[in-house]
Amino acid sequence: KDHYDIAVVHGDGIGPEVCGATVEVLRAALGPSSPLVFSEHPAGADLFVATGESFPETTFAACRAADAILHGAAGIPGIVHPDGTEAGLDFTLRLRFELDLFANIRPIRLFDGVRSPLAAVKAGDIDYIILRENSEGLYAARGAGAQLRGEVAVDTLVQTRRGVERIVRKAFELARAGKGAPADGVKRVTCCDKANVLRSYAFFRSVFDEVARDYPDIEAEHALVDAMAMHLVLKPGHFNIIVTENMFGDILSDLAAATIGGMGLAPSAEVGLSQGLFQAAHGSAPDIAGKGVANPYGTVLSAASMLEWLGGRHDDARLTEAAKRIRQAVGTAMQEGMLSRDLGGVNSTVEITRALCARLAA
Ligand code: IPM
Ligand code: MN
Repeated sequence: KDHYDIAVVHGDGIGPEVCGATVEVLRAALGPSSPLVFSEHPAGADLFVATGESFPETTFAACRAADAILHGAAGIPGIVHPDGTEAGLDFTLRLRFELDLFANIRPIRLFDGVRSPLAAVKAGDIDYIILRENSEGLYAARGAGAQLRGEVAVDTLVQTRRGVERIVRKAFELARAGKGAPADGVKRVTCCDKANVLRSYAFFRSVFDEVARDYPDIEAEHALVDAMAMHLVLKPGHFNIIVTENMFGDILSDLAAATIGGMGLAPSAEVGLSQGLFQAAHGSAPDIAGKGVANPYGTVLSAASMLEWLGGRHDDARLTEAAKRIRQAVGTAMQEGMLSRDLGGVNSTVEITRALCARLAA
């Protein structure tokens, strides 16, 4: 393939800052003969306020047709649909459900140079992946819930055999491929659920157990989600791949991000069979938007995942190589103290971006 179309959607708040920074980093990493062709498309809460539309059809079509989608962040609290849900989230949620981006891969890794709020953990001690089911579970009820006479509201949690099976398989494949690095070096997949209380989670667990039999080389275990919240604080080094339902993955991935330096550092890759959306796990942080202090690392690391995914899909070593170099550049920059305010540093978005680009161009 001689070029790849990347649909870039900046979104709201700090979205344009972190997304713009990331495009510069990608350009620096791939050099003048870069095969990436970027096109920008509007979506988000600001657009909704201006036009009444949060996610225009033209943007959706461009995303669907692109080889990959790079997103900053979207949503502004208070900018909502009549049912009270946030308008800026339409972009992400609609892409997830309509492009069937069923696997949300959230690597949780403590970098050298970054302080964890957990005592006694150092770089390398935390290195696991939360694999969040992204196409069903509770969030698939968005827009389909019911509110009865202003007195009762109901949303439904759906798990299908097909949906659970494919995400669990993906978890075991990630473990087999050697992703993540638990302290004891044992490849393991942890099924995180609430099977002791709800039927849908008991079903999730039973499908997990079935699939696990196909992977005798990988350790399989269960953890209830409430206990998991505790484990992620007390023994994060134990985990390798954690597979879980949509909402649990959403919640736990924020908790996990806190243990490695905060939301600003947490990347995410949302992939299906033929399309991928890459954006940091954080939101649009309107409180710091436009101040030049946003942390671009989360989006930059998400873009590295994008290159790795594209490179793997199209067997293109230029991209997989560039992904590695970007991750290395991020690692070195943080090690050298190039840290934004949320990480306890003083560096601006532009300074961090320049540092990364300089290293990548060298
Ligand atoms: C995330 C975000 C999203 C979610 C929002 C933006 C819809 O919090 O990706 O974790 O709730 O899934
Ligand atoms: Mn979230």
